Amino acid sequence: MFRQATLSIALGYLLVSVSAFPHVPTSFVLVGDSTTANGYAFGGWGNGFCGSTNVTALTPSSLAPNTPCINTAKNGATTGSFVADGSWNKSIAFIQAEVAKGRRTLVTIQFGHNDMKIAPPESMGANITIMVNQIRALGAEPVLVTSLTRRTFFDNGTIQDLLGPWADETILISQQQQTHLLDLHAHSITYVEAIGPDAAHRLNRSPDDDTHLNENGTIVFGRMLADLMDESFPHQLPIIPNPGLT
Ligand SMILES: *[C@@H]1O[C@H](CO)[C@@H](O)[C@H](O)[C@H]1NC(C)=O
Ligand SMILES: *[C@@H]1O[C@H](CO)[C@@H](O)[C@H](O)[C@H]1NC(C)=O
Ligand SMILES: *[C@@H]1O[C@H](CO)[C@@H](O)[C@H](O)[C@H]1NC(C)=O
Ligand SMILES: *[C@@H]1O[C@H](CO)[C@@H](O)[C@H](O)[C@H]1NC(C)=O
Ligand SMILES: *[C@@H]1O[C@H](CO)[C@@H](O)[C@H](O)[C@H]1NC(C)=O
Repeated sequence: MFRQATLSIALGYLLVSVSAFPHVPTSFVLVGDSTTANGYAFGGWGNGFCGSTNVTALTPSSLAPNTPCINTAKNGATTGSFVADGSWNKSIAFIQAEVAKGRRTLVTIQFGHNDMKIAPPESMGANITIMVNQIRALGAEPVLVTSLTRRTFFDNGTIQDLLGPWADETILISQQQQTHLLDLHAHSITYVEAIGPDAAHRLNRSPDDDTHLNENGTIVFGRMLADLMDESFPHQLPIIPNPGLT
């Protein structure tokens, strides 16, 4: 009896101490196309997730101060062109540098918008599988992300979803390779259908551009990514809560 009580007190203490522990030093490297990419003209959710000082107004970061978050995503990229034009080698160099510092390094991979223009989903899937294996061989952790939805609506207010098969392929690869999966595609569809076309189009980089994001768009979907990441790695990551934006 006494022993049991002591044990449970000790276990309770252990749990408290573990949860009070600071997060292990973590870095993020982002891989993908323009819907992830940063830059002056925005475009993707990367700015909103990582935070950036290179913007007209202050883009809030979702991450604790001094968390490295390196956005290597490239406008126009497919999984194939990303490798062929040397972008992937740049990502690898950043991943190696973060791992070498002894940091837990999470690498997000999100493609589909351009892959869908050139090949069936399986081609993208095979290429992502190769990336997953290379990331693991470097001592980092792959996190697959399904494609951010386009904000193209039918008259009845539902999303005209052409990216579905590419999102499904990403999910399939995450299951085959047992990686973490952030279903940005499904969550972004639910969100934009809930706010409706007018509000959704106010997140467009230009009025007719249903694909790329303006500053408010990067903030909204950067936060969505942070929330999905936090859900997938509960209490493990240096993600700052932002209940208002969530
Ligand atoms: C920062 O913004 C300027 C335009 O003001 C742009 O030329 C430059 O490429 C941007 N740098 C980065 C890293 O996005
Ligand atoms: C996947 O990579 C191969 C090269 O290894 C390339 O031929 C193919 O086009 C790529 N697929 C996509 C969708 O980019
Ligand atoms: C990427 O790096 C590998 C290994 O160093 C090299 O073989 C390959 O040619 C590089 N790819 C590009 C596009 O530069
Ligand atoms: C909305 O319209 C599209 C295109 O006509 C149709 O395919 C879809 O089933 C409709 N959805 C609902 C919920 O009515
Ligand atoms: C961005 O959001 C803010 C706050 O809601 C709003 O004042 C501003 O007009 C928005 N910017 C654009 C370009 O819609």
